[in-house]
Amino acid sequence: MRAVVLDAYGGPEHLAVAHVPEPAAPQANAVLISVTAAAVNPVDLQTRAGLHAGHSRLQPPMILGWDVAGSVVAVGDDVTAVRVGDRVVAMSAQMATGRGTYAETVALPADITAPAPASVPLTTAAGLPLAGLTAQQALDTLDLPQGATLLVTGAVGSVGGLAVQLARLRGLRVVAQVRHTADAEEALALGAHEVTLTVEPASGGPGVDGLLDTAGLPRAIGTVRDGGRVVSIVPTRRPVEERGITVTVSHVEQDGERLAELSALVDRGALRLRTAKEYGFGEAAEAHRALAEGGMRGKLLLVP
Ligand SMILES: NC(=O)c1ccc[n+]([C@@H]2O[C@H](COP(=O)([O-])OP(=O)(O)OC[C@H]3O[C@@H](n4cnc5c(N)ncnc54)[C@H](OP(=O)(O)O)[C@@H]3O)[C@@H](O)[C@H]2O)c1
Repeated sequence: MRAVVLDAYGGPEHLAVAHVPEPAAPQANAVLISVTAAAVNPVDLQTRAGLHAGHSRLQPPMILGWDVAGSVVAVGDDVTAVRVGDRVVAMSAQMATGRGTYAETVALPADITAPAPASVPLTTAAGLPLAGLTAQQALDTLDLPQGATLLVTGAVGSVGGLAVQLARLRGLRVVAQVRHTADAEEALALGAHEVTLTVEPASGGPGVDGLLDTAGLPRAIGTVRDGGRVVSIVPTRRPVEERGITVTVSHVEQDGERLAELSALVDRGALRLRTAKEYGFGEAAEAHRALAEGGMRGKLLLVP
């Protein structure tokens, strides 16, 4: 089969299409997925550059990619919840599992897959798993009560854009922080109640109850009220605790059940997925360069 293989840690030029052996028949609790699309995420760029080499059990040559949407082509003997022909999405923690999704076929444990939303193309659905689970799990960790005020930084980014929508669904009052004035309209369309370009403390008010930092802006803790809660998803830019505020770094975890909930929200029209651009496998290096440049408003997808 064809796959995008990283031949050595370094720049995007180390990504190239190669022919690799097909995965073997799935193990008892696994499924084989024919990949329709794999999304490109910041973690893929970090892994490519060797930033996670110290805690990855893999070394190049390897196949990158956490997000996948596709069709099930084989199931292991013990799999009952997934059938051949099912449209599925999944997030594979590539560094830990060794199962990269930039490939024509990938074998994954059945319990990390979920039904793909039926209301959107499978390519679009590939943008859901990693960003959606990250947003959902970070909001779980924040655990703010209904009516509380949440500031989301990077609010039109992949995780931020889904976090704004999910926070609104949880009954939070959402303040969206964006980098450019032109992004304000998008943030409001995603459900933000209010948009800000800065992360400076508001003068006069008590501050927000919670902060979800997806943009890596540790000084944004200054906008949080005394005793409030902060969750960052950027471990290298963790805010320093102050004024009784709790600070937690959230790391996304594989979870087929939560992913199924997110798929259902998409099908209810409650969660909107945004695609910026689709690339062929042969253009993987270009997709990595585009994500690194920033300014993407929606996912970049690799299509075999
Ligand atoms: N801990 C975890 O489990 C986990 C999971 C997923 C992601 N992450 C990390 O979370 C971060 C976001 O991921 P993502 O997929 O959402 O990336 P993304 O789609 O690139 O979104 C990041 C957003 O932050 C904005 N931003 C960056 N610097 C900013 C600044 N100084 N001021 C305002 N906005 C700024 C970006 O704006 P521009 O596009 O204009 O630059 C973009 O809208 C990445 O660092 C990623 O590695 C961690």
